[in-house]
Parts: sequence; structure tokens; C-alpha cells
Amino acid sequence: MCGIVGYIGHREAYPIIIKGLQRLEYRGYDSAGIALYDGESIKLSKTKGKVADLKEKLENEISTSGTLGIGHTRWATHGVPNDVNSHPHYSNSGDLVIIHNGIIENYDSLKKELINRGYTFKSDTDTEVLINLIEDVKKNENLKLGKAVQIALNQVVGAYAIAVFDKNKPNEIVVAKLGSPLAIGIGEDEYFIASDASPFIEFTKNAIYLEDEQMAILRRGKDIKIRKIKTDALVDPYMQELQLNLEQIEKGGYDHFMLKEIYEQPSAILDTFRGRLLSNEAVIKLAGVEDNMKKFLAADRIIVVACGTSWHAGLVAEYIFEDLARIPVEVEYASEFRYRNPVITEKDIVIAISQSGETADTLAAIKLAKSKGAFVFGVCNVVGSSIARESDAGAYTHAGPEIGVASTKAFTTQITVLTLMALRLARAKGTMSSSEFRHHLIELETIPGKVEEALQSDAYVKTVADIYKDSKNCLYLGRGFNFPVALEGALKLKEISYIHAEGYPAAEMKHGPIALIDEQMPIIVIATKKGHYEKVVSNIQEIKSRKGRIIGIVTKGDVSVKELADHVIEVPETIECLTPLLTTIPLQLLSYHIAVMLNKNVDQPRNLAKSVTVE
Ligand code: AGP
Ligand code: GLU
Repeated sequence: MCGIVGYIGHREAYPIIIKGLQRLEYRGYDSAGIALYDGESIKLSKTKGKVADLKEKLENEISTSGTLGIGHTRWATHGVPNDVNSHPHYSNSGDLVIIHNGIIENYDSLKKELINRGYTFKSDTDTEVLINLIEDVKKNENLKLGKAVQIALNQVVGAYAIAVFDKNKPNEIVVAKLGSPLAIGIGEDEYFIASDASPFIEFTKNAIYLEDEQMAILRRGKDIKIRKIKTDALVDPYMQELQLNLEQIEKGGYDHFMLKEIYEQPSAILDTFRGRLLSNEAVIKLAGVEDNMKKFLAADRIIVVACGTSWHAGLVAEYIFEDLARIPVEVEYASEFRYRNPVITEKDIVIAISQSGETADTLAAIKLAKSKGAFVFGVCNVVGSSIARESDAGAYTHAGPEIGVASTKAFTTQITVLTLMALRLARAKGTMSSSEFRHHLIELETIPGKVEEALQSDAYVKTVADIYKDSKNCLYLGRGFNFPVALEGALKLKEISYIHAEGYPAAEMKHGPIALIDEQMPIIVIATKKGHYEKVVSNIQEIKSRKGRIIGIVTKGDVSVKELADHVIEVPETIECLTPLLTTIPLQLLSYHIAVMLNKNVDQPRNLAKSVTVE
């Protein structure tokens, strides 16, 4: 993964590229670099660190003029993050320069061949191998850059989104894609290149998303030419009008994207409902489900494949689908599913959940499922993403861009879509009466308002965060629908505050984790009314007897837990299957405040990246 940006046209390239890299930093942020062509030569600057570090270094180091340039913000796969391994990379002659997102899997054998032919390498990256392979092909066969890129890519195994230019032909940039995303913004006599459309949204609304195994030549003042890398066939460009706006990708007064995105959840959930939840008519409309209703009704089971937070949303869906629609559900880590020999048949439905729609493991899992004849339904946030395109049908979450690396609104909107699906199928299967169905719809419609109410606990959650911010460990407990919420709460804390945390089913505590409890250990227990409330209260008693410090997430007006817990955070009451949409909120806020108090980089936690496009 990583973010790539490029520009060729009549404007100064540098400001577009540097700003674009800042917007793409969610994709990787261990090093960054830019190469500009100033009319005479290539000016290149790169450094370990963030885009802000690059900006400081570059502006002292090189002139920033030029109307052609490429930039990269890296998440290292091959070679440690340092100045040398940062992109862009030159070819040996210094004529060609490349940025690359992805992995060249056969880089080692290609590198050996190139070394035998006299090439030398400065970096440890697979990318430097690719640019020299392109140079080798170009020189040996005396080819134009586009053709050389094409021939070289046909020798490559792996994934890439690349942009390459030649200092001797500074009127064109060649781009290509396989497995990693690449969007091309089309302006008036200018082209923008980026991993997603956010870097060029203020310049043009017209974009082409390259498909896998396609390449394009972007020539100053000429129409775009897209070809298939394997067959050389010309492809008609499919131009899309972007729906994204600038406001959606900026912080809008919040200190961090994560906080903004937590607070966006009421409107994000509302957007997820829009046109789909028609409670007056007692109807749910989801085109992807409607069009494939026969398949859903005939399905033996549903297999959910996902990673991280999306996997947690899948676990919530398991409880909801089984409870409401009585369809057996299995939830699999995509990375495990794809590497064993899973039993999949044509009567299975695979639901792939992914915010980014680019997660390599999830993408590979659905390809495997499709090859075995299963019907694949994608639940993605990013419109036009690889998983959305690869799925047979799907439903977007419509949460808007999620920039903070820690997923928040993506999670609650995924649960919302999955709940709509479960309800629609329950109605179609007759596992729910019409009055129950209507009741659920009416209640679901109140959720955005209740999320808004749950957000009002923010100031109190902050005081709790202050008390527990120096803890070394944390335990999160929940039962039933709220067990996955406990897992998600623990993941949020781990990833942004680096405090060790574990999520557990509350009743499992006595089978092991209870040994961890002492007076230092904060235990966050989700104990909403309904949802095995009495049993969870007993679990809290067990913790209390061992002097653990209890933070209860309770239903508004709760009395019993309040008597036992050190702190309680209230959420509004709702029906049991919808409680995850509310109990998640204080857990997100708790992690956020602890991380801020510990001075951690909330939006870009160490070692992580927003979309994990490597296996
Ligand atoms: C969430 O906070 C994480 N950063 C991560 O677990 C994420 O959910 C996972 O990588 C899956 O991403 P996806 O939803 O884009 O496929
Ligand atoms: N494989 C390349 C590297 O390690 C690119 C990684 C990325 O996508 O950021 O430099």
C-alpha cells in the first residue's frame, strides 16, 4: 500500500502533489518523495518520515517549479523505511523515474537477472527492480516508454499501481494498474493521477478508474489512451463523475479525522438508510438483495469474509442474520479463509465486508469463493473499489470518506447495511411477523438520534480516559450482540494508544482471563438491558470480588450496574440487536481520548495503514 500522486498539464505540479500526498497519507506514512521535471532535468527529493517532513526538506533542497511531477507516500513492504528506499526511484541511467504502490513478488529473480546484465541497485525495494527492468526492455529493443512498460509488466508477478516518466520525453506519464487502485483525473489539457480521487477533487470532477491489467499514456495536450497490458487491445475510456466534495475530505474544525468521523456517525447512518429504509411503507429496498432474492432464499448458509474492524462487523451480522432471518452464518478472517481449503459450494453466499474495498486478503478470499461458484455480495464504503467491482452484487455503506486509520463510522454503517439486509431477508423468508418487522424499522430509524445522544457522553468519557490512560492492560467484555463490540473496543484502544487490550465474551472470563484481574486492571463491561443483562451483572460481581476496576456501558437509567461499577457510561435504550450501534460510541471515544492524552498520532498510528493492499 501507499499513496501515489502525479500531474501533467499547465499548472505548477508541486503544490498539487504535496497536498495530494497529505490527503493520501492515510494509506502509508513512513517515508515520502517527489520528482519534478522543470523543463530541463528531474529534481527529486525524498525522505524517511511524513509528508510534512518531506515538504520541509524538499523546499530547502530543490526548486519546486515544473508542470510534470510524481509523488509517493510509502508503507514499506521491501526494505526498511529510510531515505534511500523511499520513492520515487530512478533507473540506472537516471533517465526514468517511478512511483509504485504494491509488491513485485518475483523481484528477486528479476533482480538477479538484471545484476547479471550489469545493473546495480541502491535500495532494497522491489520497485527499483521494476524501473530497471523497464529500462532494460526499453534499451534492448529501442522502444518507446509505453511499450517498454507494457513488456516489462508482462514479466511481473504481483500487484502494482505505477506512474513512470522519462526525462527525455517529458510530455508524457505512463501509468498502469494491477491489484492496487489508480484514478486518473481528466482536466482541460491536464491529467491528475492518484490512488484515490481526493488529491484532484478541487480541480476536476471527471475521473477514470483504471481496471486491473490496464495501462494508460497521459500526454500533454492529447487524449488519453488506455490499453490492456496483456493483449495490447485499446480500451474505451469510461469517465465517471465524482460525487466527492472537498469538505468531506477535510477536518472541518475537529482536531483529528477520527473525532470528526466519530461525530459524523448520526449522519453517516442516515445516509446509509437513505432510499432504503421506508418505514412508512414498512419496506426495505436494497437493489443488490432484491435482484438476487432467489439466490439468497436458496442459500444454505452465508460466509462472511473480512479483516479487522470489518470482521467485527461480520460477527455482529452473524448474530443478527441468525436471530432475525434464521440463516446459518460463518464469519472468517479473509486471510485464513483463502489459505486453507474451505468447503464452498454454489449454494453458499459470501458476504465480503470492507471499508476500503481494497484489502488484499479480502479481495483474494472473494476471488477464491467465486472460483468455487459461490455468489459474492460486497459491503464496501469506497465506491468503485476493487472489492465492489469484483463482487457479483453489493450494497455500499455510503459513510463518506473515512480518513482516520482507526475505523469508526465504517463499522457502524456496515452494521447498518447488514441489519437492513437481515431484516429484508427475514421478511422474505417469513421468519419475522409484519408487526415485528415494522417495529424494527421504526426503531432503526431512531438510531441516528440515539447515536447523537450517546455522543453526549463525550465529556464524561474524557474524565474516565484521564483516570485510566496510564493502564498497561485493559479487558473488554460483552455478550451476544455486544461480544463483537468488546472485540472492536479492544482493537480501537490497541491500535491508537498502543495499550494492550483484549476483548472477550463476558462469560468466558471465568475460563482464563479472570486470572488477570487485580486492582490495576480496568475492565470495560458492556451491560445493556436485555442482552443477558442479569448474567452480565453476575460477571461484574465476579470482577468486583477480585477488585478489578469496572467501567460499565449501560442503558440509560440503569441502577444495578451503577451500584457495582466504578464508572458507568449511559447509552439510550433500543432493541437488543441494535445495541451495538450505540455501545460502540463510548468505546470509540474512550480510545480516542486516551490516545490524545498519551500524545499518540491518532489518525496515523505507528506501523499501520488505512488500506492493507498487501497480503
Ligand atoms: C480498523 O480500525 C483497522 N485499521 C483495520 O483493522 C481495518 O478494519 C482492516 O484493515 C480492514 O480494512 P477494510 O475494511 O478496508 O477492508
Ligand atoms: N513495494 C514497494 C516498497 O516497499 C511499495 C510499497 C507501497 O505500496 O508503499 O517500496
